[in-house]
Amino acid sequence: MSKVKNPSLAAAGKKELTWAESHMPVLKLIGDEFEKEKPFKGLTIGLSLHVEKKTGVLLKTLVRGGAKVFAASCNPNTTDDIVAAALAEEDPKNLQVFAWAGQTTEDYYWCIDQVLDAHPNILIDDGCDLSMRIHTQRPGQLKEVIGACEETTTGLTRLRAMEKDGKLRIPTLAVNDAYSKYLLDNQFGTAQSTLDALVRGLNILLAGKTAVVCGYGWCGRGIASGLRGLGANVVVVEIEGRLNTPDSGQHRAITALYSGYRVLDHMSAAKIGQVFVTATGNKNVLRKEHFEVMRDGAIMCNSGHFNVEIDEPALRAMSTEVKEIKDNVVAYKLKDGRTLYLLSEGRLVNLSRPMGQGHPIEIMDGSFAVQALSCQYIGTHRKSMKAGVVRVPQEIDDQVASLILKTQNVVLDKPTKEQTAYASEWQEGT
Ligand SMILES: NC(=O)c1ccc[n+]([C@@H]2O[C@H](COP(=O)([O-])OP(=O)(O)OC[C@H]3O[C@@H](n4cnc5c(N)ncnc54)[C@H](O)[C@@H]3O)[C@@H](O)[C@H]2O)c1
Repeated sequence: MSKVKNPSLAAAGKKELTWAESHMPVLKLIGDEFEKEKPFKGLTIGLSLHVEKKTGVLLKTLVRGGAKVFAASCNPNTTDDIVAAALAEEDPKNLQVFAWAGQTTEDYYWCIDQVLDAHPNILIDDGCDLSMRIHTQRPGQLKEVIGACEETTTGLTRLRAMEKDGKLRIPTLAVNDAYSKYLLDNQFGTAQSTLDALVRGLNILLAGKTAVVCGYGWCGRGIASGLRGLGANVVVVEIEGRLNTPDSGQHRAITALYSGYRVLDHMSAAKIGQVFVTATGNKNVLRKEHFEVMRDGAIMCNSGHFNVEIDEPALRAMSTEVKEIKDNVVAYKLKDGRTLYLLSEGRLVNLSRPMGQGHPIEIMDGSFAVQALSCQYIGTHRKSMKAGVVRVPQEIDDQVASLILKTQNVVLDKPTKEQTAYASEWQEGT
């Protein structure tokens, strides 16, 4: 049976779910098809995703397709407890949820283990914890898994490392790498949700402030653009080389520069920044040497997947006093009298409760449409898929893009016959 923080919150959670459902038309269309075709009949789907209202709509869509669904969170502090309560009540025979906000590490893995106890045939992961857990703790169950989907950049980084070491034993669709996912979700979704968390949680003016964005990947460029839109003076920090990215940090730095941002090294940025947002997928991006030179009152937060981007233990060790001064805001008083602030313990600020609400609903409609169709693909191609990280088929990516435009009433022209022919022509010049 489900385990959530407080089942009596279900009525409030149901309202949130209904609101999300009414803004997820793409998933609704996919769910209508699933209901007719039942592609997941006889299959159990195990998920580790941020358990909040948009995820709730995905879970219900999979149930409509005939699946038995078991879900845990993919982060100890991102569950929306009212939504988790509503989901636990929704359809206990087919849908169970093990998630609450404010989990210990032990709680977190207990919940993941409940999902694995259900013997899932398909895994949906956000950050690779479910996959990692089954490979390391329950290899005997791997033969029951026909495939998996991974939602985020960091999860794919881990999966590719597993694959390189010859350890990945299930086919895993790289949902994050579908255009309909990262171009929209990572960029526009992380931008609005990160700014939303900062603005609602802190109620400070961002206009005129120097805001430093660490990492100019898909998330970073959205966040930088949003901060600029609110009037902040945006500084971008990148790193040399190619850390799991197709283009180098140098190329990304040039893109930032030509987009009109100031690009600085970490130390120079640390000295002038008033607000810092990390979105790199890397560790100890902001660390002791940077804390030592930061301005009094500097605010730091993270939108990357794990809480390792800001070296909190180092900050704590430098402090004479550490105090939570309001929800999700901890003040670190340093020996020299300066105070630095860290939001949401350095966890994803845009999803950490109660400050973050996650991406806008329409964005997750697109991302979860890719998830739902990828799951269906795994079901129908189970015999031909081989272990490893696999691209989401182009047809799914294009189908989701077309559905998003359709549900937003945007109509595009088709190329004329002449234009189509010209696009494959090599003899005709000017
Ligand atoms: N908060 C959310 O809701 C959300 C949504 C999507 C992705 N993510 C996560 O955000 C992170 C970034 O995702 P992305 O898709 O933008 O990745 P990305 O790979 O496109 O970009 C990361 C960028 O960070 C740079 N970088 C790496 N180490 C750095 C360092 N030490 N200093 C400065 N820059 C550095 C890389 O060169 C790269 O340009 C990942 O952990 C991803 O899983 C979070």
